[in-house]
Order: sequence, then structure tokens, then C-alpha cells
Amino acid sequence: MDLRERIDRARVPRHIAVIMDGNGRWAKRQGEMRVAGHSHGVGAVREALMAASEVGVRYLTLYAFSTENWNRPQEEVDALMDLLVRTLMSELDSLNENGVRLNAIGDLDSLPGDCNGILQKAIDSTASNDRITLTLALSYSSRWEIVRTMRLLAEKVRTGEIDPADISEELVSEFLCTRGLPDPELLIRTSGERRVSNFLLWQIAYAELYFTDVLWPDFKKDDLFTAIIDYQNRERRFGMISEQVSPR
Ligand code: FPP
Repeated sequence: MDLRERIDRARVPRHIAVIMDGNGRWAKRQGEMRVAGHSHGVGAVREALMAASEVGVRYLTLYAFSTENWNRPQEEVDALMDLLVRTLMSELDSLNENGVRLNAIGDLDSLPGDCNGILQKAIDSTASNDRITLTLALSYSSRWEIVRTMRLLAEKVRTGEIDPADISEELVSEFLCTRGLPDPELLIRTSGERRVSNFLLWQIAYAELYFTDVLWPDFKKDDLFTAIIDYQNRERRFGMISEQVSPR
């Protein structure tokens, strides 16, 4: 039976987050420049997005550029920004044809002007699509996001709009960049690394973590289906006991 058919459509994770890792190692193995790995990574983004959409995942969030990635050699940073601009321009029609709503989280003001401009245009152009929401985390890190949230909340307290006693988990979630998105039920990281690297730390509190040795440019639809099947074989207890979540 093909992998897609083994997925229980009634229990597909609503939101999958992905740490796309291994582009540099992939390029090295091919004897190519690191940038070639990122270019091939775009094909894997397409595969993951189509696969997620085909089985009914409603939200896909990809870690495309971390706050820490600004420290890479300038030519790699420039190449990544250029790739982002070119990809957004070339894929926009396809996003619209496939009902993909584009979204972005992170310190978007720190992106080069052309990059931020095209990003905002693509976000506006896809705003009414509702099949799947693709969120790109760009110049994002979870600690940056949490500090930003604390500042926003502190300011509301200072102006008297919020009483500190009213700060709840729900209110904090409302002030995160991911406002309006459900928490991911599944976090995938490629390339064999087993870390969460400052990604969605608040939001993945109850997510299942799935690590695969596949390098991101080699990631195919079947790799996403395999991760979903693995997720569906796990028991999610949310701090309760087995009998409470799956009574016999
Ligand atoms: C991590 O691999 C990957 C990145 C830092 C960039 C991810 C970007 C893309 C997949 C392409 C652009 C995406 C979009 C949405 C247009 P790495 O370079 O850290 O790999 P390594 O650990 O093997 O060095």
C-alpha cells in the first residue's frame, strides 16, 4: 500500500513545523557550493507543501532563516535572501492555484527591503486562500519572539490596558508572532540533528518530535507521509495516563 493511503485522514496533524536542515552537507556531498544546497532545498519545500496539502494538513511552518543565520558568511546570507525573492516571485502563481495562504513570522523589518517588499506582496496576494497556510519563519528565533512578547505585554501593563493578573497562557499566545495559528502537533527536523534550535519553543510544548537522517534537499512527499504515520502511531497523553486518553 502506498504511504499516503496508510495515513488516517481523521487524525492528520493540523499543524506541522519543520526545521529544514542539511542543505550545506548535501551540497558538500555533491561537491557543490553550499548555496546549491539551498537552491535544491526549494524543491523540498515544494514537496513538503504539496504532500501536506494532499493529506489535509492545514498549517505548515518552515524555519527558513534564523536570527543566528545572520552570522553566516555574508555571501551565503545574500544568496539566501536572493533565493527567497526569486522563489517568491516564481512560485506566487502556483501558491494561488493551490490555495496556499502565505504567512511569515520573525523580525521581518531586518530583511533587505526588496525581500520584505515581495514577501508582503505575496502575503497580500494569497490572503484569501484557505486550503493550507504556509508560514515562513524568517529572521526568527523563539527567544527573540518571547522577549518581544514580554515587551508588548509590559507596555500594555504600563498603560493600564492589562492587569498583570490577567496574563494567561491564552493571552501570551495572542502576543506571539504565531497569533491565530494553532500550536504544531508535530515538529520534524531533517539531517540527523536532534535539537530544536530556538524554534517555536512556546508553541511546541506538547508537539511530537520527529527526527530523520534525510538531508533537506532530498526530502520528498513520502518522507512527510512517513513522519505523519509515525506521529499517528504515538500516544499523546498531555500529562494524563494512558487509560484516560484511550479508554478501553
Ligand atoms: C539549513 O541547512 C537550511 C537553511 C539555513 C536555509 C533553508 C532555506 C531553504 C530550504 C531554501 C529557501 C526556502 C524558501 C522557503 C524559499 P544548513 O545550511 O544549516 O545545512 P548544514 O547544517 O548541512 O550546513
